[in-house]
Amino acid sequence: MTHSIIVGGTGKIGREVTRVLAASGGTVSVIARFEPGESLGPDVRHAAIDVRDLEALETGVADLVASGGPMRNLVLLQRFRGEGDAWERELTVSVAATKIIIEAVSRAFEGGGGSIVIVCSNASRMVAEEQPVGYHVAKAALRQMCRYYAAALGPLGIRVNCVTPGAVSKGASGQSAVADATPLRRLGTPGDIAGAVAFLCSDDASFITGQDLVVDGGLSLLWQESLVRSLTQEDG
Ligand SMILES: NC(=O)c1ccc[n+]([C@@H]2O[C@H](COP(=O)([O-])OP(=O)(O)OC[C@H]3O[C@@H](n4cnc5c(N)ncnc54)[C@H](OP(=O)(O)O)[C@@H]3O)[C@@H](O)[C@H]2O)c1
Repeated sequence: MTHSIIVGGTGKIGREVTRVLAASGGTVSVIARFEPGESLGPDVRHAAIDVRDLEALETGVADLVASGGPMRNLVLLQRFRGEGDAWERELTVSVAATKIIIEAVSRAFEGGGGSIVIVCSNASRMVAEEQPVGYHVAKAALRQMCRYYAAALGPLGIRVNCVTPGAVSKGASGQSAVADATPLRRLGTPGDIAGAVAFLCSDDASFITGQDLVVDGGLSLLWQESLVRSLTQEDG
């Protein structure tokens, strides 16, 4: 039996990642502060851990690893949600917690190695007005952390990659200005992101590490000035 840990596996995207990885078998452990409203599946267990408490996190992850069997996959989707200092809390929840979890878990991957996927954002390299500075800095740090650990853990057979979603709708995507501007003419769904994560966790990705797989229908390929012109009907 193999073991997958999904941090933030109860959220909008995380729930679908959990469903897809659970369907491929083995034990799945989900870390989130609160109980999921509905069952995540028969072989999925929930660990109520607040990753902001870095000491409790280290112990909690060690307990999960000890009871869950040899590690195969680690997926990190958590981001800061709630009240308080968004700068300090985003850096703790996204960056410090990710480092602690990767270092605690990497010692427990079975001989054949495994996969770590960090869910990132285009805010790692572009500016999204609706997100605070801490979110941008945290996502940029995660991209570089991915590259660092890909090099450091590669000799152990552990691959480390990022998945970068664009705007994600909850279900069947309705049409919107963002969908209309996207080359593939729709918003992403949680299933699109979960599919990319599952690919990076699979043997089909066995020689891919340190990469950032952007799953945004091509929107971030477009030159911003062209986008503005197309929206305002201005001539170039
Ligand atoms: N949604 C999008 O359109 C979009 C676009 C680009 C990138 N992304 C990225 O994709 C990832 C998932 O996004 P999402 O929209 O699915 O997020 P979400 O619905 O807000 O889910 C966040 C998850 O993180 C957990 N979490 C938050 N704070 C935590 C803490 N202190 N300790 C432990 N767990 C904590 C939440 O569970 P609890 O609340 O129970 O703790 C939940 O499971 C994020 O990294 C986000 O930056 C999303």
